[in-house]
Amino acid sequence: MAANDMNTIVSLAKRRGFIFQSSEIYGGLNSCWDYGPYGVLLKKNVKDAWWKDNVLSRKDMVGLDSSILMSPKIWEASGHVGNFSDPMIDCKQCKLRFRADHVETEKCPECGGELTEPRQFNLMFKTFMGPVEEAGSVAYLRPETAQGIFVNFKNVCTTSRKKLPFGIAQIGKSFRNEITPGNFTFRTREFEQMEIEYFCKPDEAEKLYEYWKNERFDWYKRLGIKPENLRLRDHDKDELAHYALGCADVEYKFPFGFSELEGIANRTDYDLKKHIEHSGKDLSYMDPQDNSKFVPFVIEPSAGADRATLAFLIDAYNEEPDKDGTRVVLNFNYRLAPVKAAIFPLMKKPPLKEFAEKLFEDAVKHFPVEYDEVGSIGKRYRRQDEIGTPFCITVDFDSIEDNSVTIRNRDTMEQERISVDAVIEYINSKLV
Ligand code: GAP
Repeated sequence: MAANDMNTIVSLAKRRGFIFQSSEIYGGLNSCWDYGPYGVLLKKNVKDAWWKDNVLSRKDMVGLDSSILMSPKIWEASGHVGNFSDPMIDCKQCKLRFRADHVETEKCPECGGELTEPRQFNLMFKTFMGPVEEAGSVAYLRPETAQGIFVNFKNVCTTSRKKLPFGIAQIGKSFRNEITPGNFTFRTREFEQMEIEYFCKPDEAEKLYEYWKNERFDWYKRLGIKPENLRLRDHDKDELAHYALGCADVEYKFPFGFSELEGIANRTDYDLKKHIEHSGKDLSYMDPQDNSKFVPFVIEPSAGADRATLAFLIDAYNEEPDKDGTRVVLNFNYRLAPVKAAIFPLMKKPPLKEFAEKLFEDAVKHFPVEYDEVGSIGKRYRRQDEIGTPFCITVDFDSIEDNSVTIRNRDTMEQERISVDAVIEYINSKLV
């Protein structure tokens, strides 16, 4: 049985150390979350898979890590100072605040009170750089990583010698003062993005836009999301930003309904042209083939690392009836599983303990492994199933005689006997 309500996931995430409420001992900080020991591994695996598949495995991509604080002029040029806002309404009675486009009734959805007229609310977090808090020292926490890429376009072009089409990718924190954060880690005020700006000749943009839509949609499937829980939704004309020629969302069927995981947009030459206009710098591209000079178009696949992690967690969740009641198992794709293997000595006594510890020392050099000698083997399996560990290895008395161990698969629960010398190779071959 899959997880069809968010509470099941929130409670597993807390119980098994995936995700905790931020500042919990002080009563919690609304919309902020901390990744615990397994959560940090899971999210890192999601980001590493994205980086490997979109950057390291491709000849046409390079990476970047730009700063979170950037010149405020960037946000004026990009339109974020002027336009990055949501319409906000307040309830005059209970004082709750809502996004106007999320409220379908004339009255407050909480108490039925009278609502104010919508007002525009800028979503950027403002701060001050340096010792004096004055207008001249205003800085913003970036609301997207994308602009760090655009303003470095020339630097990357001249230093990487990449020819169009090529992309620049970046993973990093972004901040938005969302009016109505919620649904666990789905909409938060601090989150991580995984963004690509793929630069191309204007006449190639349409074809590459279609390519990236399909490529990004397939990536989630390749990493194990069930196809029936994913859809690719093209934006209607009236949803499109004025500069975009096309935009589509990869949506996941969260327990609260299909919602955006990632957006893919054909942003034309809008961003680079805005930065040319505001900075006075030449950000055009010189084509070495015909010496033509132009401002490239850009295709932007923009994903959220927290949303993707949440979707992978929800999709992996399964409850199966078994002889002891219910087996809770996270059927993660092996690449994403936080811990790849667990090693159990049948008894915590010599010589089994030493044999298992030696295997642990060898294996941990290759992938994250746990060592567990507490409780029955059945209980130890259940603990690992609940965090999605693909392989459990039991060391028993035969191991001492014939140097073999039992390796049990999380999904099939089948067990095989293999030589202890083959364990690392066996697991490594399944993690690619
Ligand atoms: N540069 C384009 C851009 O930032 P976006 O649709 O605003 O586009 C891209 O954001 C992705 O970032 C979203 O699809 C989502 O996965 C993630 N994201 C945006 N706002 C978020 C929030 N408040 N909490 C968590 N993730 C968020």
